[in-house]
Amino acid sequence: MIKNDLYLKALRGETVERPPVWMMRQAGRFLPEFRELRDKYDFFTRCRTPELASEITMMPIRRYPLDAAILFSDILVVPQAMGMDFQMVEGTGPWLETPIRTPEQVKNIIVPDVDDTLGYVFDAIELTLQKLDNDIPLIGFAGSPWTILCYCIEGGGSKTFDIAKAFCFQHPEAAHELLQKITDTTIAYLKRKVEKGVSAVQVFDSWGGMLSPEDYQVYSWRYINQIVEALSPLTHVIAFGKGCWFALEEMTLSKVSALGLDWTIRPEYARSLTNHTMTLQGNFDPARLHSSPETIRKMVHEMISRFGKDRYIVNLGHGILPNIPLENAEAFIRAVVDWKPN
Ligand code: CP3
Repeated sequence: MIKNDLYLKALRGETVERPPVWMMRQAGRFLPEFRELRDKYDFFTRCRTPELASEITMMPIRRYPLDAAILFSDILVVPQAMGMDFQMVEGTGPWLETPIRTPEQVKNIIVPDVDDTLGYVFDAIELTLQKLDNDIPLIGFAGSPWTILCYCIEGGGSKTFDIAKAFCFQHPEAAHELLQKITDTTIAYLKRKVEKGVSAVQVFDSWGGMLSPEDYQVYSWRYINQIVEALSPLTHVIAFGKGCWFALEEMTLSKVSALGLDWTIRPEYARSLTNHTMTLQGNFDPARLHSSPETIRKMVHEMISRFGKDRYIVNLGHGILPNIPLENAEAFIRAVVDWKPN
């Protein structure tokens, strides 16, 4: 039994004394102890070394009273396992020497055995669970098939992902073949994470908002929903789609336990689009953590009163920014922990 199960209660839609809180990208660059490790080991070495990955996962937990841990890793370990040699370039982000630009290349992409290729992630889960000692739940994650496709075709980050979109619209058959291969790998990967003991899995669709509502259904949601269908009998699934507020109604009809929101939607509107029944997660503007601790505290309390304390998980609307002062992150978390109904 997990001692602090506020996060799981919120996912189950149970009544809570206060909402749970965690922060997307909490195991990351805003922490000085993370930056110190970064000088010693390159990014994917940190992901591939279970001792390092589990230590990084614990860094924010040791500092703050968070209600959930998220395993340190990256969404790009999945396409790496499928044969795409992603590097993390300092100052630039993900980079792929030979991006997928032709339908023939899609044929060479494999659906790997996840135990052979991603065993280090499962070992990291095991070590992390020992360190967590059942205090709080551990969240596992994967990128959405669409978001992974974006990186595989683009070869790195982009403001528009127009090369990835052009590929889909010029070669829809090859695009769907690639999306299906990513989906099949992701399902096997997340199932294994659940077997290893994570309490929930979150699917990050960071670039879903690049698509029109119609294309979103065809190129993104259809595949996320396959993951939801496969995993929801086994665990809680949370779908986070950045810029995907237009799809919230369809998402609500699925078997997700919660939906993640970015900061561009009002709580009341998100509640009405999701029938007032769905657990929602979000949606503090990450840049708002540059405000003073007092302002952050006030804004968090207002956010809780607008979403309501039940069926709600306090989080940012996207990952925490690298230059956020430690005391501001702390103010965000403490505002939730100290919250009282009035
Ligand atoms: O949330 C957590 O704390 C767990 C760890 C985590 C990382 N990446 C570690 C990381 C998670 C959940 C991710 C997911 C991820 N990775 C996403 C989806 C979520 C999102 O933010 O949209 C995406 C799109 C990626 C791909 C990726 N990885 C990018 C674009 C970059 C470089 C730019 C950036 O935002 O940092 C990374 C590198 C990365 N992944 C870092 C961390 C801590 C920074 C690496 C470093 O500077 O050493």
